[in-house]
Amino acid sequence: MHPFYVIKKFTIVGRKQCMSYEVRNLQMVKWVAEVAELCQPEKIHWCDGSQEEYDELCNQLVQSGTFKKLNQEKRPNSYLACSDPGDVARVEDRTFICSISKQDAGPTNNWMNPKEMKETLTKLFKGCMKGRTMYVIPFSMGPLGSPIAKIGVEISDSPYVAANMRIMTRMGKAVTDVLGDGEFVPCLHSVGAPLEPGQKDVPWPCNKEKYIVHFPEERSIWSYGSGYGGNALLGKKCLALRIASKIAKDEGWLAEHMLILGIESPKGEKTYLGAAFPSACGKTNLAMLVPPESFSKSGWKITTVGDDIAWIKPGPDGRLYAINPEYGFFGVAPGTSAKTNPNAMASCAGNSIFTNVALTPDGDVWWEGMTDEKPAHLTDWQGNPWTPDCGRNAAHPNSRFTSPAGQCPSIDPEWENPKGVPIGAFIFGGRRNDVIPLVYQSFNWNFGVYLAATMGSETTAAATGTVGNVRRDPFAMLPFCGYHVADYFAHWLQVGRTTPKPPRIFSVNWFRKDANGKFLWPGYGENMRILKWIVERVNGHAAAVESPLGWMPRYEDLDWTGLDDVSREQFYELMSVDRDVWKEEIVSHEELFVKMYDRLPKEFLHMRQLILSSLWRSPEHWEQFHRSAQGFGFND
Ligand code: OXD
Ligand code: MN
Repeated sequence: MHPFYVIKKFTIVGRKQCMSYEVRNLQMVKWVAEVAELCQPEKIHWCDGSQEEYDELCNQLVQSGTFKKLNQEKRPNSYLACSDPGDVARVEDRTFICSISKQDAGPTNNWMNPKEMKETLTKLFKGCMKGRTMYVIPFSMGPLGSPIAKIGVEISDSPYVAANMRIMTRMGKAVTDVLGDGEFVPCLHSVGAPLEPGQKDVPWPCNKEKYIVHFPEERSIWSYGSGYGGNALLGKKCLALRIASKIAKDEGWLAEHMLILGIESPKGEKTYLGAAFPSACGKTNLAMLVPPESFSKSGWKITTVGDDIAWIKPGPDGRLYAINPEYGFFGVAPGTSAKTNPNAMASCAGNSIFTNVALTPDGDVWWEGMTDEKPAHLTDWQGNPWTPDCGRNAAHPNSRFTSPAGQCPSIDPEWENPKGVPIGAFIFGGRRNDVIPLVYQSFNWNFGVYLAATMGSETTAAATGTVGNVRRDPFAMLPFCGYHVADYFAHWLQVGRTTPKPPRIFSVNWFRKDANGKFLWPGYGENMRILKWIVERVNGHAAAVESPLGWMPRYEDLDWTGLDDVSREQFYELMSVDRDVWKEEIVSHEELFVKMYDRLPKEFLHMRQLILSSLWRSPEHWEQFHRSAQGFGFND
């Protein structure tokens, strides 16, 4: 049966259609027809995912003034888009989890009754695509046909979204072939800017009123009013985290805000790690880390599977296996340079879309931190002339590059393996000036879940020695967990109970400062030293001592070759655990827990007590732990 026939039955008759392939999924065809009826677009375009289609979309975006084509020599097949200044980031206060019961959304999500929300949204979506083309974008999160992957269909009236989705996901005809008549997650998106006949369009249409809405039981997404990033590319935060976290809980797996990297030892032993950090903690840099020369010379290698999201399922051998559900990087541009992240720079060397960065006079892009020396003249992200002394940023702090993951020089050979890669360890880290040591290994899974649940980042430069101004961001999932966060903790505990060979769990803090506010740890490539200790712990080769928090390396347990500027004393300052500060830290966990008391796993109360009691060992032991000539000698 030709799909057009089916579409006719659902009264899209009279609307112009562009469709170069057959869709057999009746549910999808029916839904597209319903949405067209509601939103009243001028045309419907079914994306096939081809290069020709992408080029045509980009040409059209150039013509409409949304895109500028960049210098073909310097940045081949690449474009710059500059958004409306009111549409530059995810809008957490306009993001809703509309579960049937308010309790199920939990204390960390905005909630509205799903029926009321549908009524509100239906009014907004009525006629919202007038004068525009409605793109039907079938996409797969995860390698096509992977047992871990899920299929979504985004309907959007934004060609910018359609173009970005082709980089960020596997998109188009091949997806509908794999889908057959199976289930998909419907993702409806509109910029909320209908055009009356003859009305001129603007380069970045959007609406002041914004709604990013998830219906977790129905497994659907409605997004209105924004054309930017996670608000509009609905496969990413909306599907792959908020909706997927709920599916994962129901089905017994994990959808996490984690990068995935591989570490190969000189002996060829490969270990994969999943690491969760809140936004703005250098996740992309860690995912693409370039080891110090002494490590690469001796044969250590880092490979990248993903930089933002991991879907993790139990495998037949008792281990957990992870895929990166995405196909591209939507990386933060400022601070990315050939020094801080050469692999990211290579990834966006071509075939990329840049959003809200500055334009150089010769048609290339620039952002703060890209080069040591600032260019003499630029056009800033708002289209104004810019000079280094003008007192403004040239690029928006949340400006981005959208680039194919396959272009990353460090991409792992297994990154598209439909079975995923086996995870040896999970790493959790935040941005803490003080309190949290550089690295420690959790005693066991449950302690690891506790440390991840209580992780946080400093919101301002808090005075050293205090634990104020910390935004708790459990598992870096605060804005992304699609259900009650305490149920999420319980789910993690349950995964530990049912996984025969669970990954080891580690805490890291690259951001610890001394009393003068200076970073104690060099970070970037030097983080390799910590990763090496972690994989050696996982594989049973590295020594550690017991501390009140978990297992810690002594100075001599880390590989310092090629690094002179971290002394033994500095290392122990980085690793120090101050009893009084930790008392405050533990007490402050209560502020988070008290909000979710009704569903908090009871194990957490006991773990709190256990940490407190081990902090209360005799002062002599404590002193030894800090100062022993061998490093830590807590058990002596
Ligand atoms: C992101 C985020 O954009 O975590 O990846 O905010
Ligand atoms: Mn993220």
